[in-house]
Amino acid sequence: MSEEYIKVISSGPLHGEVSVAGAKNAVLVSMAATLLADGESILTNVPISSDVRYMAILLQCLGAEVALDEERKLVTVDTRSVCCFTVNPDVMKKMRASVLVMGPLLARFSQAKLVFPGGCSIGARPINYHLKNFKKMGVEIHYVDEVLHAKTKKLQSCRIALEYPSVGATENILMAAVLTEGTTTIVNAALEPEVLDLIEALQCMGARIVICPAAIIQITGVTSLKPMNHSVIPDRLEAGSLLLAGAVTGGDVFVTNARAYDMDIFLMKLQEMGHKIEVGLNGNGVRIKATQLPEAVSFKTGPYPGFPTDLQSPMMVAQCLATGTCEIHETVFENRFLHVRELQKMGAQIKCISGSGLACSGGICSGGACSVGDCSVGDCDKVQVTGVEALYGTNVIATDIRASCALVLAGMAAKGKTVMTGVDHWRRGYDKLEEKLVGLGAQLQIETGYKMSRCFGQEIALKE
Ligand code: UD1
Repeated sequence: MSEEYIKVISSGPLHGEVSVAGAKNAVLVSMAATLLADGESILTNVPISSDVRYMAILLQCLGAEVALDEERKLVTVDTRSVCCFTVNPDVMKKMRASVLVMGPLLARFSQAKLVFPGGCSIGARPINYHLKNFKKMGVEIHYVDEVLHAKTKKLQSCRIALEYPSVGATENILMAAVLTEGTTTIVNAALEPEVLDLIEALQCMGARIVICPAAIIQITGVTSLKPMNHSVIPDRLEAGSLLLAGAVTGGDVFVTNARAYDMDIFLMKLQEMGHKIEVGLNGNGVRIKATQLPEAVSFKTGPYPGFPTDLQSPMMVAQCLATGTCEIHETVFENRFLHVRELQKMGAQIKCISGSGLACSGGICSGGACSVGDCSVGDCDKVQVTGVEALYGTNVIATDIRASCALVLAGMAAKGKTVMTGVDHWRRGYDKLEEKLVGLGAQLQIETGYKMSRCFGQEIALKE
């Protein structure tokens, strides 16, 4: 099988100005929300990534007419001929975000048929919070031959308490509730900037939503909504990655449309490393002037406004090259350290630390520390990183969207050449991020011609 790969050559300090695309995680849910109205919705500032294309196909399979304008970064979705509530299983399995059509389909048809969603393999990623709370809203759920059939006579408003502020569950319940009679309350709701962007889009459609203190969202149902005309917020995760590209290469990068107020903890951690951060008027635009002597800082991921789990892997690259030792605690997903093995191949010093023991291929190593390379990293939620003088380019494999970004950053900072396969993940999450990095001085390109081969259970890339 011939595969695409990204070839990254050691890059000097990145310099210059760059702008980020619209947020992937915001546009996917807004596209799902277009199903709530009859007519043509227009979304602008859309990143044309492969997940956006998958969502377009998903909506088309339901009967919508969808047009992507790559030049103008614009998507139109005409839902007038949507007549189907069964989601195409092949598209459903392409990405996690496909589950987000469940709420809109229940609101529109009182039923939805779908299989479990796919997406990055960063954990078990159940959808029990979505299903449990739809049941509270009067939905019956049957699971036959891997197909979930959700059905209700009429959605009922109620008070819902989320045991964890799940982004997807908050979004799905919100979208079901906007057309449900009465007031639905979500307690312990996720309030990520992408959720707020969805709320803004829904409000423009005519929805009645209020955010109250202590993370409570109140939705008072309306009888109909009008199509949306919505501009998607800039991607804070792409912005963070570009700032980190400046950090790991010791450069000076200005992300002109980054919203500093979406990234407080992340920016604070960069400053603690010794990097100089300048923020534009009203928090718009962020510049990093990287220190040449970064200090290692510990951090823990968490729901917003905590440190975003999606920036954990690129931030780890910065720690690999900093002075000192730090701890990184991943609390959101249970399997989000798959990039560790790849960074170790490049010379990073990372070990898994855990108080309760780790499941290893050879059994359990209790108590102390053990090298992630020997372990099932799925059981590790905390690593210790000790900075090294240099990373070294080699063949690496990206296993999820954010890991692909981390490995490209590592390749830019490393000595020699890095070849990263798993480019599908990169394309799923980013709209030509490679061109932006090249514009700042990075040496990288997407090429084809590597052949994937299995060696002792591991995929390796061989030049054809
Ligand atoms: C979204 C983002 C993803 C980001 C994540 C956390 C999209 C398309 N993806 O994912 O990039 O990393 O938020 O900011 O917007 N959980 C359950 N049961 C559920 C739902 C979630 O146990 O029903 C668990 C998950 O397994 C995970 C945690 O809750 O451990 C957080 O998941 P959630 O906030 O729902 O993330 P997603 O919406 O999947």
